[in-house]
Parts: sequence; C-alpha cells; structure tokens
Amino acid sequence: MIAQHPTHNLPSYLDTNHLGPWGIYLQQIDRVAPYLGDLARWLETLKRPKRILVVDVPIELDNGKIAHFEGYRVQHNTSRGPGKGGVRYHQDVTLSEVMALSAWMSVKNAAINLPYGGAKGGIRVDPRQLSMGELERLTRRYTSEIGIIIGPNKDIPAPDVNTNAQVMAWMMDTYSMNEGATATGVVTGKPITLGGSLGRNEATGRGVFVVACEAARDLGVPLEGARVLVQGFGNVGGIAAKLFQEAGAKVIAVQDHTGSVRNDKGLDVPALRQHVQTHGGVAGFPGGEDLANDDFWTLEAEFLVPAALEGQLTEENAPCVRARIVVEGANGPTTPQADDILRDKGIQVVPDVLANAGGVAVSYFEWVQDFSSFFWTEDEINQRLERIMRAAYSSISGVAQEHGVSLRTAAFIVACSRILEARQLRGLYP
Ligand SMILES: NC(=O)c1ccc[n+]([C@@H]2O[C@H](COP(=O)([O-])OP(=O)(O)OC[C@H]3O[C@@H](n4cnc5c(N)ncnc54)[C@H](O)[C@@H]3O)[C@@H](O)[C@H]2O)c1
Repeated sequence: MIAQHPTHNLPSYLDTNHLGPWGIYLQQIDRVAPYLGDLARWLETLKRPKRILVVDVPIELDNGKIAHFEGYRVQHNTSRGPGKGGVRYHQDVTLSEVMALSAWMSVKNAAINLPYGGAKGGIRVDPRQLSMGELERLTRRYTSEIGIIIGPNKDIPAPDVNTNAQVMAWMMDTYSMNEGATATGVVTGKPITLGGSLGRNEATGRGVFVVACEAARDLGVPLEGARVLVQGFGNVGGIAAKLFQEAGAKVIAVQDHTGSVRNDKGLDVPALRQHVQTHGGVAGFPGGEDLANDDFWTLEAEFLVPAALEGQLTEENAPCVRARIVVEGANGPTTPQADDILRDKGIQVVPDVLANAGGVAVSYFEWVQDFSSFFWTEDEINQRLERIMRAAYSSISGVAQEHGVSLRTAAFIVACSRILEARQLRGLYP
C-alpha cells in the first residue's frame, strides 16, 4: 500500500533545524517577527528565496581530464531593487550557505538603505588547486551558466571569499561577450581600468573600522592603545587591521587558515601582510609567537573582529571570549546560541549586516559610476562611505535602544521593515 504521507530524507528549506547557515538565518527572522507590526503578515516572503539556480560547471583541466563543479546563484529577494551579492569559491560551499548569504545580503542592503535586493553565488571548489587558466575557464563557464539571471538591472555579482578583481574582470568580459556589448555594470569589485571604483578594495575593512569606532565611542572605549584580535587576514581582516593600527590601536593576535600568531606589543600589520603575500598565511611570522587556534578566542581585548568564515563563534568558545566589542567582518560568524552568550556577558556585538556593509556600499557607488561613466575621487568615495556607515549605525542603535534589543535584532527590524514595506507597496503579481 502507498503511504499517504511519504517521509522525506531531506528537510524542507523552511525547517530551522539541521539546515546549517540557512537554518541560522531562519532563526534570526523568527526573532524579529514580534517587532514588525502589521508587516509581519508578509514575513513568509523572507523565508523563501525568490529564485535558486544550481548549475554544473565542467572544465577541461590542464592535464586533459574533465572536472565538474557545483555552482549556485541564489536571488533571495528583489523587492527593493536588483539582486546584489558576492560570489564565493570554496571547497565547503553548499546550497544552504549560499541561500543564507543571499538572505543576509537582502538584510544588509536594506539595513544601510541601498536600493538593492539580496543575492549570492558560489562554486564548490578549492581554487588553490587550480592553475590560472583553469580558474579562468571555471569562472567563464560559471558566468555563462548563470548569465540567464544576472545583468546590470537584474542581479550584480561581486567578489567574496577567494574571488577578486581579476575574477570580476573575467565575469564582466564573459557576460559582455554573450550580450554583444560591454556591460561594465554587471559586476562590481572590478579592476579600476575596467570601470572599477577607487576605494572598493578597502571598503569592507574600512566600514568595519568605522562602525567599530562608533561602537567604541558609545561604550566609552578609547581607540588609542586598544587591543584588537582579528580572525581572517584577507581583504576584510587585513584592511581592518591596518586601519586599527593606523588609528593607534594594537593588533595583538591574528588567525587565518594556516594558524594563529600573537604579539602583545602589537603585530606589525604591514609586515604581516607582506608575510602572508609571500608565504600564503600568517603561520611562521617572525614578528610574533605561535598561538594555539583555540586560545585565540580567549585573549583579553577591546575588539574581536571575526573576518573569515561563518560559524566561528559558537556555544563552545563564546563563554571564553574576553573582548569588549565583537565587530563581525565575516558573514554569519556568530551562531544564535553564541550571540545569546555574548549578550549575557555584556559583550557588544556589531552584526555582520551592518559591520561589513561597507563593501556593498562602495559596490553601489561603482555601479552608479558605471551607469553614468563618470568617476569620483577616492576621497569622495571614502567620505560617502563613512557617511552611510555612520548613519546606518546611528539609526540601528537608536532602534536597539528603543526596543531594548541587540544591534543584530535592531538591524533586522530596520531591514525587514524596509523590505516588507516595499513588498506590500508593490503588491503581489498578478
Ligand atoms: N570582500 C568583501 O568585500 C566582503 C564584504 C562583506 C563580507 N565579506 C565577508 O568577509 C569574510 C572574509 O572575506 P574576504 O573577502 O576577506 O576573504 P579573503 O579570501 O580575502 O580572506 C579570507 C581569510 O579567511 C581566512 N580563513 C579561511 N578559512 C579559515 C579558517 N578555517 N580559520 C581561520 N581563518 C580562515 C583566510 O586564511 C583568509 O585570511 C567572508 O565571510 C566574506 O563573506 C567580504
């Protein structure tokens, strides 16, 4: 006899359990529901990505073999404008992760009031195992496969973990070749000579630093001499560390995928960046001592900046954190359980959707400049970036105080209200 209610081996994507990062996002959305008033009627919109594209990315390797990779592009929400979000190349990329990252982009863009929805892409690949030629073929094939849903007015990719300006140049070229016309505005984070924006490369790290300063001012923590811990020493962590040091703070420990280094007098950040360029990671840096990875989280500091991957602050290590302010450079570095633990300990968490929004803010500037083919100076860009970040911090911390909630919940209240208001005003089609 056929069972009336067949059991499924895979959970629905509306199931908050066992879903990895996407499950965490769903829990965050549930937390915000009580604050949305009448707009809560539309909340389900935020739990269902608008569109998910899964693609096969086959390439011929240099040795003549054929390799296949899993590729994704998820457009979570486009109520407020075209999709916007990066492309990640990593061996652990999953659909759940790309879904969550796309949703956090919707929230982030709305939190700082950019006229975008949220999207994200990724390929499950360890790019370090590929030659430049293989990486280019992978990028071009992936871009062709997702070409049916991206475009300057539809969805605009950008760099994320392990993708950079060169990858964006290949994406722009591939899309333009398929369209038969150069379309610089299809991706952001491009090289300056191809319609990229001054200041884009540093923008995320700069935004992290700007909101860290705002939070420190609120809490009366002086920047001069402040101790800083940075996990992830790539684009975001490396730039944030540099700006902290230039402002008189001491970066006392850094962790990346190769290990952790510590120097209580302050690591020499430019020298460490140079070391990473030559050796591929922070391990073995002569200007510091080795540190066990688990001990990194327990050091006493004013700032802790997780700027690597998601799920780094968990219920296991959060109880040991002795930092005053956590500034989330990475997307989703703190689990909801760790969030509660940090809050109980009185540690201020500046959430990812606010703290790392500087990158997409300058991506927005790049897109606007590409449309008008008129380019701004770096000073203009940095000033506009700082203005956007300060205004966003101020309105979100105001909502946090008004409702007595964390900055994360406040950012979600501000963002979800904006998205759902747009949804309501547009109405349902047809
Ligand atoms: N680049 C941007 O503009 C941007 C914008 C917003 C958010 N982010 C987020 O910031 C984070 C970092 O992005 P990025 O652009 O700096 O990437 P990146 O590739 O430049 O650097 C990533 C860093 O993380 C480290 N890392 C990787 N795995 C690790 C592990 N298991 N333990 C410790 N360190 C590890 C790497 O060694 C490297 O230092 C990601 O979560 C990304 O989504 C980036």
